Amino acid sequence: MSARSPWYVANWKMNLTPSAARVWCEALRAGLDRLQEPVPELGVAPPLIALDTVRQALRGSGVVIGAQNCHAEASGAFTGEVSAEMLADAACRFVLVGHSERRHLFGENDEEVGRKAAAAVRAGIEPLICVGEKEEQREAGQTPEVLSRQLDRALEYLLDLRSADLTLAYEPVWAIGTGRVADASQIEEAHAILRGKLVEIAGEKTARTTRILYGGSVTPQNAEKLAPIEGVDGFLIGGASLDAARFLQVACPRARC
Ligand code: 13P
Repeated sequence: MSARSPWYVANWKMNLTPSAARVWCEALRAGLDRLQEPVPELGVAPPLIALDTVRQALRGSGVVIGAQNCHAEASGAFTGEVSAEMLADAACRFVLVGHSERRHLFGENDEEVGRKAAAAVRAGIEPLICVGEKEEQREAGQTPEVLSRQLDRALEYLLDLRSADLTLAYEPVWAIGTGRVADASQIEEAHAILRGKLVEIAGEKTARTTRILYGGSVTPQNAEKLAPIEGVDGFLIGGASLDAARFLQVACPRARC
C-alpha cells in the first residue's frame, strides 16, 4: 500500500439488531485487545437504529462510526429520512453515499449522490463515495466512462474540493455479495482511473491524499492478496463484516484475532 494509511470499513447493510450489534462490538474489542500488531484504522456503518448502541460500545476503541446513507437536505418534511447534520450530531464521522444498492434498488441517481456528498461535507462528516460498473457495462468496455461519470457527478456540488476530506470506494456491482472478486488488474485499472480523474477535478494534492477502498466479496481469505494491489487503500466490507472476528481478520490477515 501507499503513503495513505489503509482504512477498513464494515458496511452491515440491513443486518444486526441493536442487541446483536452490542455483542459484535464486544467481540471486536476483545479481538483488538488480543492484537499483537498496531491497531488498524477501522470504521463501522451499522443500521441507524443500532448507531447509538455501537457508539457507546466502541467508545474509546478508536473505531469510527458512520452511516449508510443520508438525505441531501439539512431538515424538512422528508418522512423516514435522516440528514447529515443529524448524523454528525450522533457522532458519525463518515457516511456512505452512492452505494450500489442505493443506486440500483432505490433508484438514486448521480445527481442525488452528488447532493448527498455535498451535504455530508457541509455537516462536517466525510462522504465515503461508492462507484462501480455493472457487469454489462464492463462487458461493453464502458467501465472507464461509467466510473468517470459517477465520480464527476458525485463531486459536482462540492464547493471546496481541495480541502474536503473524502474517501472513494470502488465496488464493481457484479462483485458485491456474489463471491466473485474483481481480479488484480481490474482493480488496479479502476483505481487508477479514479485517481486520474481526481487529479483532473480536485488537483494533485487531494488525489494524493484521498483513499480509494475496494469493495466486493472481500473475505479474510482473499484480503491478503487484495491488500497489496497498487492503488488499494483498504476495503469496504459487507458480508464478511457481520462477524467481528472475520472483519478484524480482513484488516489484519496475519494476526490471530
Ligand atoms: P460484500 O462484501 O458482501 O460483497 O459487500 C460489499 C459491499 O457492498 C460493501 O459496501
